[in-house]
Amino acid sequence: MALVDVSRLPQHVAIIMDGNGRWAQSRGKPRTAGHERGADAVRAIMRAARRLGIPTLTLYAFSEQNWDRPRAEINALVDLLCDCLVSERDELIDNEIRLNAIGRLHKLPTRAQSKLHALMDATASFGGMTMTLALSYGGREELVDAARVLARRVREGSLEPDEIDQAALEASLPSMDCGPVDLLIRTGGEQRISNFLLWGSAYAEFYFTDELWPDFSANSLYCAIRAYQERERRFGLVPGAQHAAATNESRDELERAI
Ligand code: IPE
Ligand code: IPE
Ligand code: MG
Repeated sequence: MALVDVSRLPQHVAIIMDGNGRWAQSRGKPRTAGHERGADAVRAIMRAARRLGIPTLTLYAFSEQNWDRPRAEINALVDLLCDCLVSERDELIDNEIRLNAIGRLHKLPTRAQSKLHALMDATASFGGMTMTLALSYGGREELVDAARVLARRVREGSLEPDEIDQAALEASLPSMDCGPVDLLIRTGGEQRISNFLLWGSAYAEFYFTDELWPDFSANSLYCAIRAYQERERRFGLVPGAQHAAATNESRDELERAI
């Protein structure tokens, strides 16, 4: 069992849950069987993260690009999502987990949207942990949507172009409601970001593992966190410097002081 220092936990863990299809295919099963086992892994990791005291967990469940998969696989994924949004209700409530979602949710079938919003409403007041599902999500799409919001505000006259700074852009990015990513985990052996949280991962620590998502266990999560805790995050500074100096505020102060 990997030992984790609970006083230095990543505040925001994001996971690219990859490898369900290969997990199933290597067992001679249909890809959908891998997605079903993947849902079990989601439950295990949600529990483990909550027990550890991680405040924010973001899970990449379905990308904007995944809409181009075979229709039968998409239908199975939507059915699975709907089932989980019902079956996990008590688990979320008992553990005071707030459910959140990002992505172009309007593209989901209405039955999935209504179950999603029902569970988000039922858990809205909880502060134990926020679990965000990225559904029909793409990092580029999110940035395009934010650019449109800001452009409309400029056209209406409520925003000057020069007022568009990092804070203004972030305020238009739903994924940034939970703050930047500290630790980004990808299972399944690929070492790429696949259009996940492009803005919020700017200074994330990446952890890639060959484990396929259905095999990813609580102990796998502890290993990832332990690896994170062994790294030094420098944010562009020199070793040992205060990380806070990398924030925009203090950078502005430094610029003024120079
Ligand atoms: C991730 O597993 C789940 C989704 C993208 C919905 P995959 O379905 O991508 O599994 P592999 O990568 O084909 O094994
Ligand atoms: C990323 O996995 C999306 C999710 C895990 C939901 P993909 O399997 O879709 O990514 P690629 O195709 O390997 O880049
Ligand atoms: Mg994949």
